[in-house]
Amino acid sequence: MANTKPSGQTGYVDIYLGLQWGDEGKGKIVDYFAKDYDIVARFQGGPNAGHTLWYKQQKLILHNLPSGILHDRVKNFIGPGCVVNPVTLLAEIRTAAELLGVFAYEMQFRIFISHNTFIIHPLHQFLDKAIECSKGNNSVGTTGKGIGPAYADIKDRIAFRFGDFELTKDFFSSPAYVAFVESVTKELEFYADEYGYSVPEITNINQVELEFKNAIRELLKCTTFVDTFWLEAKLRDGQNVLAEGAQGTMLDNNFGCYPMVTSSNTVAGTAPVGLGVPMKYFRKTVGIAKWYTTKVGSGEFPSEIKDEEIQALLQEAGQEVGATTGRKRRCGWFDIPQIRYALQINGVDELIITKVDINPLQEVEIVNMYKVNGEGIKTFPFSIDQIEAVSSFGLNMKWSLEEGVPLLETDLRLYLGYINDQVKNLGVTISHISYGPNRDDVIEVNF
Ligand code: IMP
Ligand code: MG
Repeated sequence: MANTKPSGQTGYVDIYLGLQWGDEGKGKIVDYFAKDYDIVARFQGGPNAGHTLWYKQQKLILHNLPSGILHDRVKNFIGPGCVVNPVTLLAEIRTAAELLGVFAYEMQFRIFISHNTFIIHPLHQFLDKAIECSKGNNSVGTTGKGIGPAYADIKDRIAFRFGDFELTKDFFSSPAYVAFVESVTKELEFYADEYGYSVPEITNINQVELEFKNAIRELLKCTTFVDTFWLEAKLRDGQNVLAEGAQGTMLDNNFGCYPMVTSSNTVAGTAPVGLGVPMKYFRKTVGIAKWYTTKVGSGEFPSEIKDEEIQALLQEAGQEVGATTGRKRRCGWFDIPQIRYALQINGVDELIITKVDINPLQEVEIVNMYKVNGEGIKTFPFSIDQIEAVSSFGLNMKWSLEEGVPLLETDLRLYLGYINDQVKNLGVTISHISYGPNRDDVIEVNF
C-alpha cells in the first residue's frame, strides 16, 4: 500500500494518471476526486491533452487547465513540467469562466502558473506540422499543438518560461526572443524548401505574434503567476494535492511505444520534477484505465480489434473521437500484459476502471499474451515491433446498464474480478469504477 504522510501537519500528493494511450477518462475522475483535495496540479504535457468534463449538462473540454477547475474551493496549478500555449489557455479560461458564471479576472483566484512553466510559441505549432510533414508515412500523428518542438527547445536551452515574460522588461524586444524567432523562422524555411511544407499562416506571422503577446498580457490578469516553492509551501501548510497526469503511460517519452509517443514523460516518476515538489510528500498513485483500449495517432497497438464491425460498434457506443483533434480513436481489447507493464512502471496502488456503462458487444475478449520470437510471453516487450501475434480469448460475458439491475450484479463483476486477479500480485486492486460521463457516476468497489 501507499506510504504514510510525512510527519506533522504537512499535506500529501496523490497522483492520478492514465495507464493506456490516453483518453482513459482521467479528467472526469479527477473532477470527481477533486473534492477531497485543496489543489489539483498538472505536472506534464500541454494542450495536446483533451479532458472532457460535464458541468450542469454542458460539456467542457480542457486542454491546459487542470480538471479541478469546476470546484469553487479548489486551486489549480500548472506546473513547471508543462508546456502552455497562452492563446489557447486564455480561450479555455474564458470558456470555463462563462460556464461557471464568473468574470475571467476572477479565475486568478483558482489558476496558478509557475514562473518555471514553459511556453509554447505559435511558431512551435507550425514546426510540429512541418516536422510531421517531413516524416511522410512515418509521421507520429501528433496533435499538431507544438508539443514536440516546445519540449525540444527546453532541452536545447532556448525556450521561454512565464517568469521570463513577467520579469524581463520589454521582453518581446529582448535579444533572446528576437534570436528565437529568427532561428525558428529559418527552420521553417528549411522544411518549406526541403519538404514543400507550407501553411498559409506563415505569411501572416505578425498577426499570430500579436495575438500571442496580447494573450500573455491578458493571462497576467486572469491567472496568478507563482514562484518555485508556492506548491511546496502549501503542502507544508497541510494542504493536499491531486497531481493530474495527461496523455497516458504508453505515450511516455521513455517508457511508451517509442517513437510513437509524446514528447514528455507521463509516468508517475515525472510528478516530483513536473511540480517542483520533493518526493517525501508523495502518498499514493492511482491508475485509470478503460475496460477496453483506444489509441489516436499513428503506430500499432497490440490489442487493436481487427474485426471492423466490432471496432465500429465500440467506437460509436463509446463516442471514441479525439477531444483535441476530432480524429477517430482506434479501439482494442483490454490488454493484461500492457496494463501490468503500466501498473509496474508507475507503482500504482489503486486501479480505476472507466466507461463500464458502455458495452454494445455480445461477447468481450481480453488479451493475455504476445508472441515474440515464436514464444508466448506475458510481459510487454522492449518494442511493440517485436510482437508477432497477440493472443486474446473470449470471456463469454456481456453486460449493459439497465434500469433496476445494479451493474455489479451483471457479468461486469466477473469481468472486473478477472482483471483484479490478473493484477493483484502487483499489489493493486480495483478501487472504483466509473459508469457515466457525469461527475458522480463513480462507485467504490471491493474485490
Ligand atoms: P503530441 O503529443 O501532439 O506530440 O502527439 C504524439 C502522440 O500522442 C500522437 O499519437 C497523439 O495522438 C498522442 N496524444 C497526445 N496527447 C494525447 C491525449 O491527450 N490523448 C490521446 N493521445 C494523445
Ligand atoms: Mg483525452
